[in-house]
Amino acid sequence: MTIQHQFGGDWTRQKLDVLRKYLDAYMTIFTRNPKAQYFHTVYVDAFAGTGYQTLAEPSEAPLFKELSEPDPQAFLQGSARIALELEKPFGEYLFIEKQADHVAELERLRAAFPDRRIRIAQGDANHVLQDWIQRTDWQRTRAVVFLDPYGMQVEWSLIKAIADTQAIDLWLLFPLGMGVNRLLTREGPPPAVWERKLTRFFGTDAWRDRFYQRQIDMFGNIVEPRLANADSIKQFFIERLATIFAAVAPNPLILTNSRNNPLYLLCFAAGNPKGAQTALKIAQHILSHTP
Ligand SMILES: C[S@@+](CC[C@H](N)C(=O)[O-])C[C@H]1O[C@@H](n2cnc3c(N)ncnc32)[C@H](O)[C@@H]1O
Repeated sequence: MTIQHQFGGDWTRQKLDVLRKYLDAYMTIFTRNPKAQYFHTVYVDAFAGTGYQTLAEPSEAPLFKELSEPDPQAFLQGSARIALELEKPFGEYLFIEKQADHVAELERLRAAFPDRRIRIAQGDANHVLQDWIQRTDWQRTRAVVFLDPYGMQVEWSLIKAIADTQAIDLWLLFPLGMGVNRLLTREGPPPAVWERKLTRFFGTDAWRDRFYQRQIDMFGNIVEPRLANADSIKQFFIERLATIFAAVAPNPLILTNSRNNPLYLLCFAAGNPKGAQTALKIAQHILSHTP
């Protein structure tokens, strides 16, 4: 094993370890608990990839160029396959993927699991998932949704729609270093197009006052130095989630690259008020015990 293999890409393994452990615990509850057995369970992988670990597309650069580092997980299972291989499977699987060649791989994966109920939808997760949420009977359904984008593709309106079901547990990869941090320019607030992107992403423009401080300098000019650091960005996003979910893990997993720079936060939020505390306890335990 090379040094690169020992370090680069370890965050992918951490992310999928957490997901696997949570899905396993979730289905243990939903198969054993007589009240929970009433519900139809669905696992939704909205940025499903291929079923195997995939490397970033060059087109995602330059904002996301670190992802082109060699990744030791390149030949390992991806999230879709991990979910299908659970000992106690979900009642149904929904894989959403934008890219046609990835969808073709998912079709092959489906063929390898003839006893699982699997639906594959090609399209933009923001639309396909919202559409599915609207058509689902949330009196009878409980779901885990995994949002695993490369960058800032998830819009707040989707996160809100997920929370509004009060029936979904969400695992979400927050693009801390791979998006948000880079848009929060150091010398002053970002250009208008980036501002709009941040506002769409956070679902509010409150990030501006939180991350920049308006001041008058010694020459009478208005300056707005950046206040944001990794911790305050994390805190702000956790607070945003807490405005719409029943419970949110305060300890997201910080996923770092080989140089120890934070790339992503793996965040958890529970939507169902009745199950939220149990879900939170499990998620927090997994998050704080994943090396
Ligand atoms: C980080 S990869 C997913 C990896 C996967 N979860 C795994 O563990 O194997 C992100 C995937 O999202 C897809 N994608 C990017 N934008 C998307 C969008 N708006 N809607 C759906 N899929 C998208 C990409 O084609 C890529 O396959």
